[in-house]
Amino acid sequence: MGKKELKKATEILKKYRENLLVEMNCLDHVLECGSLKNYDFMIDLAIKKGFKRVVDIGCAYGHQGELCEGRIEYVAVDEDFVDFYKMYEDNYYYSVGKYPFYIPFDMYKKDLAISNLAIGWQCYVNEEEFKEQCAALANDFKACLLYVPTDREKILKEYFKKIEIYKKSESKFVPTAFYYCYN
Ligand SMILES: C[S@@+](CC[C@H](N)C(=O)[O-])C[C@H]1O[C@@H](n2cnc3c(N)ncnc32)[C@H](O)[C@@H]1O
Repeated sequence: MGKKELKKATEILKKYRENLLVEMNCLDHVLECGSLKNYDFMIDLAIKKGFKRVVDIGCAYGHQGELCEGRIEYVAVDEDFVDFYKMYEDNYYYSVGKYPFYIPFDMYKKDLAISNLAIGWQCYVNEEEFKEQCAALANDFKACLLYVPTDREKILKEYFKKIEIYKKSESKFVPTAFYYCYN
């Protein structure tokens, strides 16, 4: 390929990528994923409850950790992502693994596990697996704050004595709520 053709091909590819990003942005908004409002809410609540650190299970790239900067410590956890945002910077904490996994030294016992569209969602776990996740969350953390479909409430009640429910939605598509759970 000559220089001229290469330039043209690069331009086409750039435009194609831009279009894909615009389409993704549109879809995000249709699906109501195009904002940080869930993380905003979770991090504000974590600070209000006096936590010093949140562990975000199923964080994907973990860009939302930016909301914690200078306010609360953020740990990124995901089973898939090995290229977390900021992972090469000092003082950025992350773990690759499918939760539940072994956590040494009770290291998160004083912390809040948070999860948005990950822990408990049917696309990732069935009922039995969600029960395993709940048992582990109750053991590994002081509390957890999960954004999940409301039909998960019954199982949460089996594993946590105290549950505060926030922002319960009446959506016909997937009714959801934030569940702040502890024992
Ligand atoms: C839909 S994305 C949500 C990402 C992010 N929480 C957000 O709200 O933008 C779900 C992510 O959770 C991760 N995930 C699901 N179950 C997990 C588990 N048990 N342990 C670790 N990561 C998990 C998936 O790999 C995926 O990256």
